Amino acid sequence: MALKRLDITAVRNLKQVSVRNLGVTNVFFGENGGGKTSILESVYLLGMARSFRSSQIKPVIQHGMQGCSVFGELAGKNGRHAAVGITRDRTGSVKIKVNGDAITTVSALAEQQPMQILHAQSFELLTGGPIERRRFLDWGVFHVEHRYQKAWSLFQRCIKQRNSLLRHGKISAGELEPWSQQLVQSGEKIDEWRQAYFAELIAVFSGLLKRLAPELPLMELRYRRGWDKKLTLQAALESSLASDIEQGYTHIGPQRADIRVVCDGHDAGSMLSRGQQKLVVCALKLAQGQILSSQKGTSCIYLVDDLPSELDAEHCRLVCEVLSGLNAQVFITCVDPAELLASWPGLDVGGSMFHVEQGQVTRQEQEYKINS
Ligand SMILES: Nc1ncnc2c1ncn2[C@@H]1O[C@H](COP(=O)(O)OP(=O)(O)OP(=O)(O)O)[C@@H](O)[C@H]1O
Ligand SMILES: [Mg+2]
Repeated sequence: MALKRLDITAVRNLKQVSVRNLGVTNVFFGENGGGKTSILESVYLLGMARSFRSSQIKPVIQHGMQGCSVFGELAGKNGRHAAVGITRDRTGSVKIKVNGDAITTVSALAEQQPMQILHAQSFELLTGGPIERRRFLDWGVFHVEHRYQKAWSLFQRCIKQRNSLLRHGKISAGELEPWSQQLVQSGEKIDEWRQAYFAELIAVFSGLLKRLAPELPLMELRYRRGWDKKLTLQAALESSLASDIEQGYTHIGPQRADIRVVCDGHDAGSMLSRGQQKLVVCALKLAQGQILSSQKGTSCIYLVDDLPSELDAEHCRLVCEVLSGLNAQVFITCVDPAELLASWPGLDVGGSMFHVEQGQVTRQEQEYKINS
């Protein structure tokens, strides 16, 4: 689906913004501090119920306001249509409505419209901890395997219970057994689906990285499932039982999975330059969009914040070329559109251009010419 209309209330400096007739490629440009990233943040809120800039909602809500809201109209093939609204307030509460019905889980919201973000901190996918990488992997599996969410929720419930029992001191293997059994069943499934997805990811990622950065040495993607690969999850849990009991939590399992990007035998996060890291992350995230579209026939919305930063003109052009060929709706920000216009095929005639200044968004109706 694609976002056709967007209404934003009290997100950072965007007091009240309404944008109609959004196109396939939407460029938000303007001086620093105008509100460009806040537009992307609002779209992301609509898809994920949270910000990509802050783990808390308070900094996102306009100063002096109790809450913020975003409303969007999505339209897809064969007349499919969805009206999505999200309201967040300072207490952290989340209210989501899809076509007038209140929904209670963020996964049901995320299912409506998959979204991917490429922004200044995206390199943290390589340099940061495993949580982000698991989230990245799970995003992909969740959108292509409809049974994944159920298995994941069950697994979460089991591990919480098991850990709570472990925390309460002396415990026998028999008392843990009911939780361990369900944990094993759901955990093995999660791993199986992750592995299947990962195999696809390796192939698509390699092809994309070759296009985006042909000069980079071969990059290897490795998946770690979270326990000894020679053991079943059941056997691994049994062998770690003594230390689980001693330390009061479950040490192994899919909750410890990770992926690594390895370049010439070294960790890509510590070896590559910032620009190279950005290209690798772009290839990873573009690969996810490509897999989604080939496996499910749906495209995700790409939010791209300040693409030219860290990238030289040629790499920027290559990313634009791949992005424009994905057949996905894109929201992209920049300070000066001239660079993007030169890099993005057909943007001067087919792109929707919006000027953002002091929290106000104005559509630019005139046709943009390269180097205008
Ligand atoms: N909670 C808030 N309430 C009101 N204004 C805020 C809040 N948080 C941030 N701002 C302001 O919102 C403005 C828009 O920030 P935003 O990051 O969207 O700008 P931008 O156009 O992306 O700028 P840049 O080109 O520097 O990336 C900034 O001036 C910022 O100071
Ligand atoms: Mg910005």
